[in-house]
Parts: sequence; C-alpha cells; structure tokens
Amino acid sequence: MDSVSLPPSSQAMSASLTIPLGERSYPILISAAGPSALLQQPLPKGTAALIVSNTTVAPLYAPALQQVLAGHYPQVHSVTLPDGEEHKNWQTLNLIFDALLRHGCDRKVVLYALGGGVVGDMTGFAAACYMRGVAFVQLPTTLLAQVDSSVGGKTGINHPLGKNMVGAFHQPQLVLCDLSALDTLPARELAAGMAEIIKYGPIADMQLLAWLEQHMDALLARDRQALAHAVKRSCEIKAQVVGADEREAGLRAILNFGHTFGHAIEAGMGYGQWLHGEGVAAGMVMAAELSQRLGLVEAAFVQRLRALIARAGLPVRGPVLDATDNAGRYLELMRVDKKAEAGAIRFVLIDQPGRAVLRAAPDALVREVIDACCAP
Ligand code: NAD
Ligand code: GLY
Repeated sequence: MDSVSLPPSSQAMSASLTIPLGERSYPILISAAGPSALLQQPLPKGTAALIVSNTTVAPLYAPALQQVLAGHYPQVHSVTLPDGEEHKNWQTLNLIFDALLRHGCDRKVVLYALGGGVVGDMTGFAAACYMRGVAFVQLPTTLLAQVDSSVGGKTGINHPLGKNMVGAFHQPQLVLCDLSALDTLPARELAAGMAEIIKYGPIADMQLLAWLEQHMDALLARDRQALAHAVKRSCEIKAQVVGADEREAGLRAILNFGHTFGHAIEAGMGYGQWLHGEGVAAGMVMAAELSQRLGLVEAAFVQRLRALIARAGLPVRGPVLDATDNAGRYLELMRVDKKAEAGAIRFVLIDQPGRAVLRAAPDALVREVIDACCAP
C-alpha cells in the first residue's frame, strides 16, 4: 500500500491510497474538490454510466457528477432510490435492475454509487449481479461510507431475519471520498460514522485511539484536516486488512468489532430505528465488556473506550429488545450472523488493546454482559 501525505489545509487537499488486491487493486482518492476530483483519475471505460443515488443525496450532488461523467461516457443515466436502511432490500435493489434494463445497458455499463453505505452496498450488489458482473465506482457521501463501507468490496442487502445476510464480494474500480460532501451531513450521521473510526483503534491502532481522544471536538466541528486524517488512517487500516484477507477467511472478521451486538440491535429495533454506527457503538462497549469478563482486558480499557464513544455523541448502552427476556432476544438475533458456525456465535473480542481475536463465549456470560449494558 502506498500513500502520500496531505498538504496543509486547502480546498484541493488530496491523498491517495491503493487497495492491494493484485489485478483487482484500486485507488482510494481523498479530496475536497467535489466530483471534479474524478478528472484526476482514469475512469473505467464504458458504453454508459448509471448514477445510483437516493432522494436525499441526488438533489445535492448528482447534477455536478452528471456533468463530469458526461465528458467520459456516451450516455449517462440515473436512478434515485428511496432513502433509508429500511429500503436496503430486494424491492429497492430491483429498481437498479429496472433502470439498467430500461436504458438497454450492456455489460460495459459502469455504475456510480453516490451516497452513504446503503446506496453503496446496494449499488455494489447490483453491479455484482447485473449480467453476472459489471464495473462500479464508489462515491461515498457519509463519514461512515468514507471510512469503511465504500472500501473492501462487501456488498449486499438486509433480510428481515438478519442484517446484510444476502450479498456478494465485488470490488469497486475506484473510491473517491469527497470531504466537502460531509458539510451537508446531519450531525447524528456524522457521529454514526465516528463509531467505525473509533473501531479501528481497539482492533489495530491504539495511537489512532489516542489521536481521536485529542481531536474528537475538531472532528465533530467538521475540521477538514482532522477529517482528512481520520478518513486516510481508517482507509489505510482497512486496506491492510482487506489486502491480507479479502473474503474474510479469518483476519477480516476483526473489522466486525461491535457488529455482532450492533446488528442484533439494528434488526431487533427494526431497520432504520438505530443507525448502523449507533448499534456498532453500543455493540463495541458490550464486546469490550465481554472481553473484560473473559479476563482479556482491564476494566480501565473498557472505560476508556466507553468515554470516547460517549464523547462522539454515541450510545454506550444498548436498547431493550424484549421486556421479558432481553438477553434471550439478543442471543436469538446474534445467532443469525455471518461469523456464526454450527449455531455458535463468535465474537470479535479485544485480547490486548490494539489487537482483536474471534472466539465464542459462554451464553451465561453473554447474558450477564447484555443485562449489564442495556438501558432499562
Ligand atoms: P446511509 O447510507 O443510510 O446514509 C445515512 C443518511 O445520510 C441517509 O439518510 C442519507 O441519505 C444521508 N446522506 C448521505 N450523504 C449525505 C450528505 N452528504 N449530506 C446529507 N445527507 C446525506 O447510512 P451510512 O451510515 O452511510 O451506511 C450504513 C450502511 O452501511 C448500513 O447498511 C451498513 O450495513 C453498511 N455498511 C457496510 C459496510 C461494508 O463493508 N460494505 C461497512 C459498514 C457499514
Ligand atoms: N465492515 C466490515 C468489513 O468490511 O469487513
């Protein structure tokens, strides 16, 4: 992985990294220049481009992108999806196929995912499936998508019984993180993205955790340079992990720290009630608590993580999913998880600050953690 450092604060600040995947390697460009930054990159050649966005993001950013792409492709089409995690399903995915077929797109079409993780995951999945696989480009417009979901090629949709349970690995050809798009992001969504940045600390880089402790106020105030550093460092860590284990044979599971509990929260509350990053935030506290109760880390580490998550404005306690048997409901939901094996839930735990392991835990202990970590 090569990288260049960011120049001091400037509108055109940019950095680029490469996801090292042999012939499927691709660049991540971090810039604040809007879609025109695409002009710095060779774009995938194609007979047409399809911009996939949603009802919130398209009015803000699709016209400028359309203009840039019109200089590259003979035809530029667009499709606008309904906004929300609750729409990350087959019905919405089908709107992308409808548009591709209605416009007569062939297998040289290039899909452009313009939006957050929901649009990115669905566009990538549509690209993986259409005519058995076409090219796509990620233009992530949320912090969460810039630091995590746009990178690494996990695509898919939710099922009512389980989060992200239907999907495919399909790598994009290019990721452009436009920091200026974060200016219009609601504060709650910015905080949700912070959860996935914090995640990289306990699993891989305690220096990043310390940096976040120093710069959380600047990040929440949308300081461009602080955001640029956080996005770049997050993408570097993710690039290393994905480069080593693209299809999650083992190592890549560490990127799911907090997600086993978090996915249960999202599905149990009903998709869209708790944001993905909010579920991950409370889930990280629970996973850290479980690590402590298994004797892997000290209570001080759990407290440090909890304090940082709270400072980001994120929940540190999970919701009650069932008034009669809350822990039982969490366990039921967590058994529908891609990391589960033969019905046994496997958790990403911290075995020393900056290092994660994947392992099972006794149900009784997990119940204790849920009882201790959920708000009445
Ligand atoms: P999201 O895509 O729902 O976006 C959040 C909200 O912000 C939406 O209402 C969206 O319309 C709006 N929005 C997006 N960009 C905006 C902008 N610039 N200005 C104003 N509003 C904007 O949510 P998200 O947090 O980006 O992504 C969450 C999804 O990502 C979940 O479905 C999760 O499962 C998935 N995810 C995938 C991976 C992966 O590796 N593929 C990793 C992490 C998360
Ligand atoms: N967000 C988890 C992963 O990409 O593996």
